[in-house]
Amino acid sequence: MATEADILKALENLYGPGGVSLANAVSGVTLSGAKAFVSLAGDPAKREGWEMARVNAEKAIKALPGVEAAVVTLTAERAPGAARAHDHHHHGHSHAAPPPPQQRKGLAPALEKIRFIIVVASGKGGVGKSTTSANLALGLAAQGWKVGLLDADIYGPSAPRLFGLQGKPKVEGGKLVPPEAYGVKIMSMGFLVDENVPMVWRGPMVTQALSQMLGEVAWGDLDALVVDMPPGTGDVQLTMAQQTPIAGAVIVSTPQDLALIDARRAVAMFQKVEAPILGIIENMSYFLCPHCGGRSEIFSHGGARHDAEKLGVPFLGEAPLDMKIRETSDSGKPVVGAEPDSPQAAVYLNLAAKVKTLLETTKQRAAPNIVVG
Ligand SMILES: Nc1ncnc2c1ncn2[C@@H]1O[C@H](COP(=O)(O)OP(=O)(O)OP(=O)(O)O)[C@@H](O)[C@H]1O
Ligand SMILES: [Mg+2]
Repeated sequence: MATEADILKALENLYGPGGVSLANAVSGVTLSGAKAFVSLAGDPAKREGWEMARVNAEKAIKALPGVEAAVVTLTAERAPGAARAHDHHHHGHSHAAPPPPQQRKGLAPALEKIRFIIVVASGKGGVGKSTTSANLALGLAAQGWKVGLLDADIYGPSAPRLFGLQGKPKVEGGKLVPPEAYGVKIMSMGFLVDENVPMVWRGPMVTQALSQMLGEVAWGDLDALVVDMPPGTGDVQLTMAQQTPIAGAVIVSTPQDLALIDARRAVAMFQKVEAPILGIIENMSYFLCPHCGGRSEIFSHGGARHDAEKLGVPFLGEAPLDMKIRETSDSGKPVVGAEPDSPQAAVYLNLAAKVKTLLETTKQRAAPNIVVG
């Protein structure tokens, strides 16, 4: 099995933008069995050069004896959100020893303090992932858990709208401080979209965004981090699923056939990377009339329950297509926070209780073997 020293050695004679030895750019190494996860810190302004360096580093590490898979991610050299100072702090000494491990800002220490990472995903867009994520996070907090919500939808962030939060988060000790709503810590790409913020989060580095948000946000101790994923089952989702120790995935689907087919695709994707699936929730399942409170089955609902059974994953319940759910979300006060005693909130409180039980009773995959030094 390769050691951290072997990895640094393999990177010593590879160079990034400005001639920096990649061994000196390493900001974190995690070894898990025959898999190596390495992060490199680079100047976001030179992201194309760093992307090439990343690919080369991956090849070199993969070529080491005992390494079956290597995942190299890029992190911003500067704290995101920090002023773009004209710093003269370059990694000029290409043969100097890398910084001692305890001084490195890597992913592992941040992850250690998060008990369960829950992703909320769907095969298709617009089925209610963000609505479900927000209310699930609030529901888990209502059960006494310490909860964070990460809006990982880099292209269409929704946490600012869902929680009425605006502006840039503060940076303290080189980490972003997540604002809170209803006791839940919230971080979103939407908070960071600003001309001063490195575009490192977007474009070619889109697949690294989750790792970066996990590693560079001051989440503190959390029982659960709910991750609101972008729609679909593309490379972004796959990479995220492979790079993050997911405790469980919640798949959101609507009753329409098309969404269900896509949901099956999402289930298959998580199964492929062996991320545990907590179950499927059917959203906009039936219509709750705001006037009479009556329930109408607009679509032939129940398809998700049937699908869940067929796929052998738990069915987590159904949420109605409901005015109050939409209005509360759109006004920055998700229904579980704004009206915790309403029947609509009960749907999500129920979901949260199920998810909590499933997480506490599901046998978790072994935590990655974190090598320190
Ligand atoms: N159960 C519901 N009842 C009424 N409206 C809903 C419900 N769920 C979601 N919506 C509304 O549908 C729209 C899309 O929902 P949401 O943003 O949660 O979906 P999404 O899956 O996150 O979308 P995207 O794929 O674009 O990220 C929003 O306007 C939201 O308020
Ligand atoms: Mg969304």
